[in-house]
Amino acid sequence: MPEFSKGLEGVVAAETEMSFIDGQHGVLEYVGIAIGDLARSSTFEETVYLLWNKKLPTQAELDAFTKGLRDNYDPPAGVLELVKNMPKDAQPMHVLRTLVSSLALFDPNPNANDVPAAREKALKILAATPAIVAAFDRHRRGEKFVPADKSLGFSENFMYMLNGEKPTAAMARAFDICMITHADHGLNNSTFTARVVISTLSDLYSAMTAAIGSLRGPLHGGANEGVMVMLNELESVDEAEAYVTNKLKNKDKIMGFGHRVYKSKDPRASELQTLARQLAEDTGNMDLYEKSHAIEEVMEREVASKGIYPNVDFYSATTYHCIGLKLDLFTPMFALSRLAGWSGHVIEQLEDNRLYRPTTNYVGPHKVAYTPIEKR
Ligand code: CMC
Repeated sequence: MPEFSKGLEGVVAAETEMSFIDGQHGVLEYVGIAIGDLARSSTFEETVYLLWNKKLPTQAELDAFTKGLRDNYDPPAGVLELVKNMPKDAQPMHVLRTLVSSLALFDPNPNANDVPAAREKALKILAATPAIVAAFDRHRRGEKFVPADKSLGFSENFMYMLNGEKPTAAMARAFDICMITHADHGLNNSTFTARVVISTLSDLYSAMTAAIGSLRGPLHGGANEGVMVMLNELESVDEAEAYVTNKLKNKDKIMGFGHRVYKSKDPRASELQTLARQLAEDTGNMDLYEKSHAIEEVMEREVASKGIYPNVDFYSATTYHCIGLKLDLFTPMFALSRLAGWSGHVIEQLEDNRLYRPTTNYVGPHKVAYTPIEKR
């Protein structure tokens, strides 16, 4: 029998030129550039160009790419009509999954998956999805939709459509850093999902929809909401010690810690920690940062020896809260960014496709006699 690796740990299932992870040393690079350098110096638009083209753009290339995104900020009118029909108490991730899927209904050629068509669809989906999230949030608050402002960058425009006013430069930059740091991450579960779906030569909408479903899980992108729930459960920083040790004693997981690949601190967590502390100070949320830091200290003492450290979701919770996002929009924020990684991987898959079709080790019985129902 072929060797079975539970959870596919250590199995190489694709080749990519997009992101490189060294889990032992806490390294993440996009196309060879350290994530910290991109977080400090790049923009989300430039980072997406880098991931999709495997090189940094010239100014003219970046301008053209940015214009392409801005021209597609508005989703089809039919999708916005669907937003109005969503139950107001629906969870945003379920709405997002449903409405990204619905984008296919307004594409005259939804199944086209030659590489140029896939690139065009990827751009349109990435550009239009922020409006879907913002429109749903406004719909459930009973507010009118705010049309996109094409003079604004991706992050600034999302915050404008959500809140009806332009964010400060500092808030827009903070949001952009979150978008940069979440854009791609090797063959994580949702990216694998997207590659598996497109490998049947299905379509980009199906691949993105399936990936959103995967991301929602609390072991994956849903962990950032779990972190915030935990921070809210702690009335003060003094409770962190008992809270964490009790959870560990009961074999419960602490959300925002641990990773299949990183056995040292996730470099995205380090970037977001710096950002979270600054934002917490600026917005009067130091209690959240201090609770997070206290949890990290207890975890460091208790489980760092097992290679369990903060992951990207841990400090992104404080960051998103300080930016003013509601708890149930945290995972959709992750999705807005990761659409870039999913579609980049889908394009790579289409460029050199072979159907994903692993196998199972059958561990059940053989040669069992069929028993008629009245004799069972
Ligand atoms: N808190 C406490 N113990 C943990 C944690 C944690 N967060 N993560 C792993 N462990 C322990 C686990 O209990 C197990 O211990 P033992 O060997 O004694 O049974 C050991 O570490 C191995 O855990 P595992 O679940 O088998 O490891 P995995 O590689 O399958 O899982 C993980 C990786 C991310 C699912 C897991 O660390 C986890 O559930 N973390 C919490 C959820 C989370 O933060 N997810 C976000 C991941 S990063 C961003 C993303 O992908 O979206």
